[in-house]
Amino acid sequence: MGKLTICDHPLIQHKLTHIRDKQTNTKNFRELVDEVATMMAYEITRNLPLEPAPVSTPVADAVGKVIAGRKLGLVPVLRAGLGMVDGILKLIPAAKVGHIGLYRDPDTLSPVEYYVNLPTDATERLLVVVDPMLATGGSACAAVQTLKDRGCTQIVLMCLIAAPEGVKAVQDKHPDVDIFVAAVDEKLNEHGYIVPGLGDAGDRMFGTK
Ligand code: PRP
Ligand code: URA
Repeated sequence: MGKLTICDHPLIQHKLTHIRDKQTNTKNFRELVDEVATMMAYEITRNLPLEPAPVSTPVADAVGKVIAGRKLGLVPVLRAGLGMVDGILKLIPAAKVGHIGLYRDPDTLSPVEYYVNLPTDATERLLVVVDPMLATGGSACAAVQTLKDRGCTQIVLMCLIAAPEGVKAVQDKHPDVDIFVAAVDEKLNEHGYIVPGLGDAGDRMFGTK
């Protein structure tokens, strides 16, 4: 089963509370999501392999460490995942970015795919699928399947808020995918929204509705 990591750093939790707040306006919502994405990127990259690298300081020659050539790719799920990309790129500017367009059918809650564009070398990269919300898990499972169908094998999922149902769905369908979240909330409501959650992530990010 994929490992679930809850990024419980106090700064992440503090900012997440402001993200949840219905009084937070679009500008602040976007800025806070960007900041939390940067901090969560530390967790996701925590286990990247290092290799020795010689370095000459002003005082002496030494052997430092650099990341051992593992290439990353970010794959935001449109729309709301876009809001997490720049925050991660601040730490990993060399990452390439693919896009998967999905929306949830409001009646069936099933994901509908409308766009896929990936880096040409996506199969060689560790791909981080980013989406603020993991609700039923339908969108995340579909996004991961889209990547696997194209030959990608190294995939992790990064979300701000998950419902237990979404975590279970990903762990059941894609047991090879580790999941990083800032919080696991209580449940889904009858409309498939996370409770307490933050509402509709795409609408709050882009000021629609
Ligand atoms: C939201 C969210 C996820 C999905 C999660 O997107 O950003 O992609 O719902 O729900 P699920 O786990 O039940 O699939 P939405 O479908 O609202 O599209 P949008 O980002 O374009 O608004
Ligand atoms: N998508 C959202 O944007 N919010 C939820 O709570 C569930 C799905």
